[in-house]
Amino acid sequence: MGASIKDIIRDSLEPRGLSGGDVFLIIKAAEILIKEDDMTIAPKLSDFTKSEIKEVLNEIRHPFSMAVWGIENAFNLGAIIRTSNAFLADKIYAVDTDGYYPKACMGMDKYENIIAISIMDFVLMAKDRNVVGCEKRPDIKSESLYSFKHPEHPIFLFGSEKTGIPNELLEVCKFVVTIPMYGLINDLNVALASGIVMYDWLNKNYNKGR
Ligand SMILES: C[S@@+](CC[C@H](N)C(=O)[O-])C[C@H]1O[C@@H](n2cnc3c(N)ncnc32)[C@H](O)[C@@H]1O
Repeated sequence: MGASIKDIIRDSLEPRGLSGGDVFLIIKAAEILIKEDDMTIAPKLSDFTKSEIKEVLNEIRHPFSMAVWGIENAFNLGAIIRTSNAFLADKIYAVDTDGYYPKACMGMDKYENIIAISIMDFVLMAKDRNVVGCEKRPDIKSESLYSFKHPEHPIFLFGSEKTGIPNELLEVCKFVVTIPMYGLINDLNVALASGIVMYDWLNKNYNKGR
């Protein structure tokens, strides 16, 4: 057999030119090409291990990371993992956060780079990074997400459902952004808020398409 599907995918990828969805289309296309090439054995996506697929995804991830602190609702963390895969975040830092609900991930936890980390280690790791605290509190000065210019390779940080981002973590935030809200309720569900922020990053970086 000639080139493996993985080689074909690699050759087809232009750096940063394709989304994860495209990769899967290429895998499918490669299967068809190989079939048309009269190969007796056509490799299938299922012939590749999860780590091989993850390796390919890692080559085209977007330069932003996610971080959540103290998430109490395991479904929320699962939903954040699922959305992080949809938008191809490069990493998800689970800071002092217990497990996630696997069903809410729709299996995407197997493909994502999830890093369980203590608050102390996160503070050390993130001190030279562009940490963007995503928070809405009257006592914290923040910029509106509408006009926010995303810094290079941000880490978007979110707080717990009950208490939000703790002060120790606010201290490592170089920026704080708020999603403007107009109704009666004070804040958004954390999984929803994280999806809006990721989408804003994509919209501002790829609004002309890829
Ligand atoms: C349910 S909120 C926490 C509210 C918490 N009771 C407080 O007073 O801070 C959970 C997390 O979602 C994010 N969040 C919710 N609404 C937001 C908004 N409008 N803008 C930015 N982040 C938001 C923040 O990261 C927040 O820590």
